[in-house]
Amino acid sequence: MLVNKKLLVTLGLLSIVVFGAMTTSKPQDEGFKNLKVLPKNISGENLHKVMEEWEHSLGVHCNFCHARNEETKKMDWASDAKPEKAMARDMYKMMNKINQKYFHAKKDSLGMIMQSGVNCNTCHRGTAHPEVMVPDGKGPGGQPGPPSAGPAPGSPAPTKP
Ligand code: HEC
Ligand code: HEC
Repeated sequence: MLVNKKLLVTLGLLSIVVFGAMTTSKPQDEGFKNLKVLPKNISGENLHKVMEEWEHSLGVHCNFCHARNEETKKMDWASDAKPEKAMARDMYKMMNKINQKYFHAKKDSLGMIMQSGVNCNTCHRGTAHPEVMVPDGKGPGGQPGPPSAGPAPGSPAPTKP
């Protein structure tokens, strides 16, 4: 009886794993044209998750990195016209290198690095310009003055273009 129970549990778990693998590793082509650092077969849903994470980590909107096509008046997501997009790619590569080398992160089934080490928000904390600021030892974050005195020097408001 005990053996049967164990077998049932094992089979149950196994079917979840197999089912999960079948539903997540289905090859998808969402027609993204210009992916150089993210997996080329990333699903639209996952791409959107990444983009939103970047948006929130930097405190910006899509157009901080993406250019608009002035003729069609529509966003041209594949365009590399804005230098911020290239910087974001470099940042992504840097982040993965840090994680691979120092956090020994493994790649997941999409080829992305697991988020076990640093991510964009580790440094950016909601701003596009995480300026170098050494704490003055007078309190958390080294922000002088009472917290109600407005934004501390050297921490500009998040860019909202
Ligand atoms: C911090 C910069 C940044 C922000 C903010 C950002 N993106 Fe991106 N986006 C990128 C980069 C870099 C790529 C290319 C990734 C690559 O090379 O693998 C990309 C790729 C894309 C693509 C794929 C285009 C193609 O066909 O190749 C889409 C669609 C997209 N972004 C939509 C969005 C949307 C929608 C938002 C806002 C919710 C957004 N992005 C916010 C940097 C950004
Ligand atoms: C190890 C810390 C660190 C990590 C991790 C990091 N960044 Fe950065 N990032 C910086 C610093 C520092 C700057 C330069 C800020 C400055 O000079 O104002 C910067 C600048 C940028 C800029 C240029 C902003 C501008 O207008 O000049 C973009 C875009 C950017 N980061 C995107 C990202 C994205 C996307 C990620 C995650 C994939 C990321 N960063 C992860 C530290 C980091």
